[in-house]
Amino acid sequence: MAIDANEQTRLKQKAAERALELVEPGMTVGLGSGSTATLWIKLLGEKVRDQGLKIRAIASSEDSEKLGRSYGIPFTTFEETRVIDLAVDGADEVAPGLALIKGGGGKLLREKIVASAAKKFVVVADESKIVEKLGKFPLPVEVIPMAEPLVNDALRDLGFTPKVRANKDGSQHITDEGNLILDCSGLLIDDPDTMAAELDSIVGVVEHGLFLEMADIALIAAAGGIVERTE
Ligand code: 5RP
Repeated sequence: MAIDANEQTRLKQKAAERALELVEPGMTVGLGSGSTATLWIKLLGEKVRDQGLKIRAIASSEDSEKLGRSYGIPFTTFEETRVIDLAVDGADEVAPGLALIKGGGGKLLREKIVASAAKKFVVVADESKIVEKLGKFPLPVEVIPMAEPLVNDALRDLGFTPKVRANKDGSQHITDEGNLILDCSGLLIDDPDTMAAELDSIVGVVEHGLFLEMADIALIAAAGGIVERTE
């Protein structure tokens, strides 16, 4: 569903506000990436800075960690703690069963690590992200640079049209981990589980943007209010 950009930002803010209600003192919190997660990090940061909320965080990107630190959010690592109590992140598409495409911002690898360690993984999104079938949004696949031509061929064999992600200046986009992203368009994904297994089996693929059976709740902001989806 197409929404005007201002309305979309307003809805993202509403979803972020609802997610803030889930944060409790003492929690280890996972910080997502992207515009909706950014709104949430700002709200969380204000609560830490202005109200003395005691939490610690693990971020899914350098940008999100930098933003969190600017508010005084303390950070921890998986060396210190193996479990995140609550992770909050955006999504590019949300399909039935809370099957997601993520990685539009190129942070899918760390996002998946953070989500996988979370006792509760909450997706915050506006209603434009809801789809019946995943794949209209090009699926991001993070790839070891040396293997890119091989992975590109394998993705074409699966029916995708992969494109190496570029920065605005035309240079190749390099992830926080020094890899490339192939944005894979042209295929609606009928069976996400089978597709995820296919992608996992390609040597040189570091991670892909299919997040399946990971999200516990999606807070979907629509004009009529927040819809909490658990499936
Ligand atoms: C970044 C992501 C984002 O969460 C996803 O792209 C949604 O972004 P936004 O909240 O800006 O719409 O996966 O890698």
